[in-house]
Parts: sequence; C-alpha cells; structure tokens
Amino acid sequence: MTGEEIKNLINAASAARMNAYAPYSGFYVGCAVMTSDGVIYTGANVENSSYPVGICAERSAFAAAVSAGEHNFAGAAIVGGKGSSLPEHYCFPCGMCRQFIAEFCKEDFPLILARSEEDYQIHTLSELLPNTFYLTDIKSSENP
Ligand code: THU
Repeated sequence: MTGEEIKNLINAASAARMNAYAPYSGFYVGCAVMTSDGVIYTGANVENSSYPVGICAERSAFAAAVSAGEHNFAGAAIVGGKGSSLPEHYCFPCGMCRQFIAEFCKEDFPLILARSEEDYQIHTLSELLPNTFYLTDIKSSENP
C-alpha cells in the first residue's frame, strides 16, 4: 500500500469512528477497509443494551464490503479509543474480528492501527492471528 492509501484509510477510519454508537463502553472505534481495486468501506462499533448483541467496527466494515460483493482486500485501518478525541493507544482488533477478517484476507494482509494520520503501526494478519483456522481445515478430500 502507498503512503497516500494508508493516509486515506486512516482518515476514513477516523471519520467512521465519529458514527460509533457506544453509550455503554464509551469506547469509539472506526474501521476502513480498502479493496484490491481501491474502494473503501467503513464501519463503526454499534453497541446494544443486550451487550453481546453489539458489533465491533472491524466486522461492521468487512460485512459492509462483503455485502457489496467484495472479496479481495488490500488493507484495513482501525482507530479506536475512549471518548471522541484522539485515541490514547493503538486499538488492536479483538479475537473474533481477527478470525472474521481471516476468512477473506491472506497472512500478509496489513492492519494499520492508528492514533492519527502520522502516528500508526502496521501488523500483518498472521502476526495477530497465527495458525489460523481456515475453510480448508473443514473441507478436505476426505471431508468435502
Ligand atoms: N471494539 C471494536 O469495535 N473493535 C475492537 O477491535 C475492540 C472493541 C468495540 C466493542 C465495544 O463496542 C467497545 O469497543 C468496547 O469493547
């Protein structure tokens, strides 16, 4: 990914974060995922009074992209933290979201964890989710 694309993704994730619905945790997260063709889809966390019903920003963003027919992705940015001001820390995706992303993205897929346009770190998916359980683990020649 180019520096420009990384900046665009971070800005899209920050903007999506403003739409987070997080009255219970006060933790606002935005995610932006870019397809291989350069199209950006975004999502925010949406909480619920029945807590487990809520959804994370990452799954919101990827579900939006997949629902639009996209299956090929180049990278994703995540911006999250308490309140609506600049996040104090990098927001790592939760385990469920790592598994969700792994359904569609390869081991070297870059996840950009950002506090701002200039302040970010990049981790590959396999760094965050080694030894992933894949579709190929379910469907084998003995078990088609
Ligand atoms: N959350 C996300 O949206 N993404 C993450 O990677 C971590 C957690 C949300 C879920 C919940 O709405 C709030 O942050 C606090 O856990």
